[in-house]
Formats: sequence, structure tokens, C-alpha cells
Amino acid sequence: MNTPRRFVENIHTTTLEDHGFRVYSGWDEEVERQLPALSRQKHIVQSTERDSLERFTSPEAAHRWYDDHERHVYTLDTAPKLGRSAVAGIIWFGRSELADSSAEYTFAIRLYEASQGKRLSTSFVKAAHTDFYQQAQYEGDIWLQTDTTNTPALSLYAKTGYEVIDETDGRITMIKPGAASSQNDNGLIQ
Ligand SMILES: CC(C)(COP(=O)(O)OP(=O)(O)OC[C@H]1O[C@@H](n2cnc3c(N)ncnc32)[C@H](O)[C@@H]1OP(=O)(O)O)[C@@H](O)C(=O)NCCC(=O)NCCS
Repeated sequence: MNTPRRFVENIHTTTLEDHGFRVYSGWDEEVERQLPALSRQKHIVQSTERDSLERFTSPEAAHRWYDDHERHVYTLDTAPKLGRSAVAGIIWFGRSELADSSAEYTFAIRLYEASQGKRLSTSFVKAAHTDFYQQAQYEGDIWLQTDTTNTPALSLYAKTGYEVIDETDGRITMIKPGAASSQNDNGLIQ
């Protein structure tokens, strides 16, 4: 089932808009039509091969991927030209618990060629997290995994509040503490 896309506006989207990009939440046929070709871009294949081999091999596969699991998806779109916009990046939060932790959602990001390398990733991550916490009414921890060699991703995650909790076989696991974890016994934010 598609979720009508909603324009996202918060303090973090301003920088993105200044660079000609807009953030949307939700999913539609245009997103699933564009993802297969975007997933074959060289830097995406190098860092996250599963996108082109499994998740987004075709629009139908992308549709199934979105449909078969609880996911909150955010896209970074180029400003519309001639009434059409293009997907330039994607973030998703997926319902998935991390063993031995209280984290209930996982996080992933891709920036495609139109937006990659422009120092926009931090704003996109912050804009999506801000909206996700509100929409999902979630205050808990979020986790992710990436390769120890993925320097841009590790730099980005450190800057956006993710902390390393494990490093095994070339994979790093990180957790971003939510507001619930940042409260002391008196319920005050530390
Ligand atoms: C990870 C990703 C989202 C980062 O976005 P980006 O547009 O490349 O990065 P930005 O331009 O916003 O820069 C982010 C940070 O990484 C640093 N960085 C970028 N490219 C780098 C490189 N090749 N080597 C070292 N650092 C790099 C930047 O300097 C910046 O850090 P700083 O602000 O502290 O200087 C993007 O590269 C991407 O989509 N990669 C493929 C998919 C992926 O790896 N996803 C995450 C892993 S699951």
C-alpha cells in the first residue's frame, strides 16, 4: 500500500531547500520506478550492494520491499523541473529490534549522484529524524550497521548522534539514544 507523499518542513530542511532540494515522507509509484536505476550507481553498488541485487532490482521488488515491513521512508527530491521532480536520496526507518538493546527501529540512508558529496547528508539525516520521532511518536533508540571502511557514513553518523557499540568482522554497530534514554531518574533531559 502506498502512503501519499507529504512535504516535510522543519528547521533542518531550510539548508536543503537553499540547495534546491525538498524532503518528502511516504512512498509512491514514482519512487519505486526511479529506485532501480539509482541503486545501480557505482558508489551505491560499492557500499550497499544489496540495493541493486535484492531490495530495488525492479519497481515491483521495490514495491514489495516497502509493503512487506513497517517502514517510514523519506526522500530527498530535486526541485521540480517541468512539473516533475527526481529522487536524489532516500532514508528509511525500519521496525527491527536489536538484540540486547531497547532499540526498536533501524536507520539507513543513500544519497544518489545528484546530491552526494555536497555536504547535505547531515541536514537530511536531522530533518528525517526530527519528523520520524514526531510521526511515529517514538522516543526510543535507533540502531544501524555499516562497514568499518565507509568513512563518509561513519563521519555522518558520529555528527548526528550515533555511538559505536560494537565492531565485529568489519562491521560497526551504532545506536542513537532517543529522548527516553537521555532522561535521568527524575525524567529530566541530561
Ligand atoms: C553515506 C552518504 C549518505 C554520505 O553522504 P555524502 O553526500 O557522501 O557526504 P557529505 O558530503 O554530506 O559529507 C558527510 C561527511 O563525510 C565526509 N566525507 C565525504 N566523503 C568522504 C570521503 N570520500 N572520505 C572521507 N570523508 C568523506 C565529509 O567531509 C563530511 O564530514 P564533515 O562534514 O565532518 O567534513 C553517501 O556517501 C552515500 O549515500 N553513500 C552510499 C550509501 C551508503 O554508504 N550508505 C550508508 C551505509 S549503510
